[in-house]
Amino acid sequence: MPNLTFDQITQPISADLDDIERILIEETAIQYDFVDQAVRHVVEGGGKRLRPILVILSGQACGYSGDDSYIPAACVELIHVASLVHDDVLDEAPIRRGRTTLHSKWGNKVAVLVGDYLHARVLNMLVSRKADDPALAILSEAAQAMCEGEVIHAYKSGDFEILLPDYLDIVSLKTGRLILASCRIGAVIATDQSDKIQAVASYGDAIGTAFQIIDDLLDFTAEQEKLGKRSFNDLREGKLTFPMIYARQQCTAKEREKLEVVFNTEFEEEETIHWIRQLIDRYQVEDHCLQVAQDYANQAKLALRSLPETPARTALEHLADYLVSRDR
Ligand code: IPE
Ligand code: IPE
Ligand code: MG
Ligand code: MG
Repeated sequence: MPNLTFDQITQPISADLDDIERILIEETAIQYDFVDQAVRHVVEGGGKRLRPILVILSGQACGYSGDDSYIPAACVELIHVASLVHDDVLDEAPIRRGRTTLHSKWGNKVAVLVGDYLHARVLNMLVSRKADDPALAILSEAAQAMCEGEVIHAYKSGDFEILLPDYLDIVSLKTGRLILASCRIGAVIATDQSDKIQAVASYGDAIGTAFQIIDDLLDFTAEQEKLGKRSFNDLREGKLTFPMIYARQQCTAKEREKLEVVFNTEFEEEETIHWIRQLIDRYQVEDHCLQVAQDYANQAKLALRSLPETPARTALEHLADYLVSRDR
């Protein structure tokens, strides 16, 4: 299966994505100019729109082709955007999607309020759904899991000894569950056949972990311009993520000691960054991350095998591989 670019994968659903984009803009408009500017900054500030893409493709892979999933897809993206706005406050991140972060531009108070406003908009958009719409429970459960994950991760920040299984549990909560929810929402709007819903949910579960492992890796290896985020931010913030947990396990006692010092101090120096890069090379950390993420992606693709072979299923398969090979 030759690798496809992100644009090639999403091109067949570009009309759906355009409609969702319109909903995102219309639904978040606010009459107060100053707030509106801040909301536009984050809602229209680019981003891959991965979660809406997953809603649409999962729906199509289960046989659906209508527009009933657009509102839930927009809601998932808004919950995600809200989480980024708040996450950037927690992580003291200066850049997001190639732009100055909301809190850096307008301050923490505005960032907290804009994140809250986006959640309020989501609630309002969901009021129009039927009370027994399964998307409601899926969304609220995922939003709660994501917040729990962020809380636990913030609480664990500064923990140099964090264990890999504990870290993966956090990943599943803070990132995996919303990605899984996106897939599940597409599926439940399409069908009530539990085997199909389960296939797509297993796919979402596996790509969620692959996605965060690569996000963690890109923090160390990506070009800042392409990634649109500041490099080495996780380590600066005292967050030991997948690549460094692996490096910590592999390195010598002396290197481990130095890594802990780096982890516990604010660093800016080129020398420290150079040392971390060397550590990553020495223990082939990049290869390891790519391999583990690819294993999850393969698991995800396998889960789709029980679905009929459709262009949407193929697109989801390509998407799993893209999420591993991506550079943004
Ligand atoms: C970044 O998500 C936050 C994580 C969950 C790791 P994305 O990489 O999907 O961010 P955008 O929406 O494309 O900016
Ligand atoms: C945050 O993960 C996931 C969220 C729930 C927002 P990260 O902290 O790794 O996301 P980035 O790297 O800032 O995008
Ligand atoms: Mg962050
Ligand atoms: Mg990250």
